[in-house]
Amino acid sequence: MTSRVFEKFGARQDSTSVRFRCLELAVSGAVARLSWSRRRFVAMCAMIVLTLALLIFLTFGSLIFSDSHELPYVADAATQAPATRRLASSAQNETLGFGAIAYLSMPYRSDRQDAMQLLASVYGLNFTFIPGVDGAAIADKAKPLHSYWLRAPELGCWRAHVNAWRYLLESDFETLLVLEDDVDFDVHIHDIFETLSRQMQHNRIRITSPTEHEKKTAPYGLDWDVLFVGQCSDHSNDDRLDLAHIYEDPNVPSRPDTFFHFIGQMESLGIRDGNFGNMRVIAPSWNPVCTMGYAITRGGAERLILDISYRGITAPVDIDIIRNLQHGIIRGYTITPPLFSAWRVDGAKDSDNQALENDQSKLGTGNLNGYSTSLKMSARKDMVKILDLHNWDDFQRVLPPKPNPTMTAAEEAEELEEQRKAKIEKKEIQEAWTKRKLEMGLIMEKWGG
Ligand SMILES: *[C@@H]1O[C@H](CO)[C@@H](O)[C@H](O)[C@H]1NC(C)=O
Ligand SMILES: *[C@@H]1O[C@H](CO)[C@@H](O)[C@H](O)[C@H]1NC(C)=O
Repeated sequence: MTSRVFEKFGARQDSTSVRFRCLELAVSGAVARLSWSRRRFVAMCAMIVLTLALLIFLTFGSLIFSDSHELPYVADAATQAPATRRLASSAQNETLGFGAIAYLSMPYRSDRQDAMQLLASVYGLNFTFIPGVDGAAIADKAKPLHSYWLRAPELGCWRAHVNAWRYLLESDFETLLVLEDDVDFDVHIHDIFETLSRQMQHNRIRITSPTEHEKKTAPYGLDWDVLFVGQCSDHSNDDRLDLAHIYEDPNVPSRPDTFFHFIGQMESLGIRDGNFGNMRVIAPSWNPVCTMGYAITRGGAERLILDISYRGITAPVDIDIIRNLQHGIIRGYTITPPLFSAWRVDGAKDSDNQALENDQSKLGTGNLNGYSTSLKMSARKDMVKILDLHNWDDFQRVLPPKPNPTMTAAEEAEELEEQRKAKIEKKEIQEAWTKRKLEMGLIMEKWGG
């Protein structure tokens, strides 16, 4: 063929352009030769395309389909029924639809009690103070069986939680929300619990259908012993990852704002990229760490006191609760991401196991520099803005001073000049104070390490 091309284009001298022409002719020749068996050509093309499509499907199909798989999510229709909404609206009351809200705090932490009362007042909540217990003060005879190896703070912690459970049994409430004294939560806490209530009333993973009593009076149902709403982490029973109830909540933190443990838990239960930032999941509790925020029912308080007091104890109280859950002795649900988070401050103030002694530098930089994670809008941060007032500026704006009719023009000019000077002076003092606070902050940071 090459020789034929050379015959045809014999006059050409440039070897590259000759080779190019060769290729062109070869291709058109091949197509021309194929044209008599066009059907076979088309069939072959179709086969190649199908094989390629199959390969692509096998490689990426699982990815594509897992992304669009249906979430185990209850449609709004059921959760929007009037009776459901009516019951859920009790989450707007000052105990969030629970019988009461108790918080545990060591009696000497009056600073944290101030903060909790302030939060309660600003966000329309009623927190009942239950004093924490010094483990060393528990009489030997009162200690539960097998508790000899626990440290005093662990024993004290156990006692405080049992006291909270007892508070429920001694009252006429059916549920109690138990908090620790360093919690933070979202500013929309009432709406968040109202949304949760609607879902708990139609919880597709509950085993028994709701009784008439539950339908009338229990915003979160009563088919559980413990309801974890403030865990540091939890992961589901690997054998029952199918047990999840996923629901929409506009007040969920975005994925980057969510602690990685919660992301892992949500992914294991079927939440994918697009669902982060607007979905929460209800799943049976399996390994909830921290007792910072959980609710109990009357039945739950009875079972827990039976197993973690009457029978004796086997471990620190949070571990014993986990043992109860994993052995199926109690039934619990965990909400992820949780509705309560820990408020962290720097320095020794953060923990009740660290002594301050007389060194003020160990106080750290205080509440205003504190932080919490996995919340869309921190209540502790927002509270400072809510209470921010500029009284004299407000007076100036709403009721500006009227000219004094008894003043001469000269006196009036003098008065104005005085006011101008006072304003400058006030600004200077404010600037100096801001600078001083910044310096103190830096010094504290250095000392606090
Ligand atoms: C809030 O609502 C719950 C559920 O209806 C109720 O048991 C509780 O007593 C209410 N709390 C207050 C303070 O009204
Ligand atoms: C807060 O709740 C407790 C316990 O239910 C109750 O005794 C108390 O009166 C409530 N306080 C207010 C201000 O409503």
